[in-house]
Amino acid sequence: MKKLLLVFALVAGISTLSHAQTKIPPKIQKLLQKNTCLACHNPDKKLVGPAYVDVMKQKKYKPEEIVALIAKPNPKNWPGYPPMAALPNVPKDEALEIAKWITTLK
Ligand code: HEC
Repeated sequence: MKKLLLVFALVAGISTLSHAQTKIPPKIQKLLQKNTCLACHNPDKKLVGPAYVDVMKQKKYKPEEIVALIAKPNPKNWPGYPPMAALPNVPKDEALEIAKWITTLK
């Protein structure tokens, strides 16, 4: 019984470590909400679209590249996902703020 508890404690410990939650700054949270990004993206988890941490792990974009991809996504970059809807109406300054924040994620 003790051993079992130890295993549970270990597993719980490891999973909290690997699921460290990304804190979204309030200003960015507002922009993500306004521009509907959160309907399809979570910073840490795969939803409809890839987690932002995974985007940075795999692609290492510069902010300007992300701004371009918001207006004109390239679904070939993400096999296995549905294509992202192009969002050409996101104001450029807002897209850049979001993009700069995404590039800080690990
Ligand atoms: C309707 C769902 C949906 C919405 C809304 C959405 N995305 Fe996506 N996003 C996706 C999917 C699905 C993918 C992966 C397939 C693709 O890139 O087309 C993706 C991919 C991405 C990528 C990776 C692009 C690449 O080519 O590597 C970034 C960055 C991104 N989204 C940011 C955003 C931001 C920022 C917003 C809000 C302005 C947003 N997305 C809104 C579904 C969405």
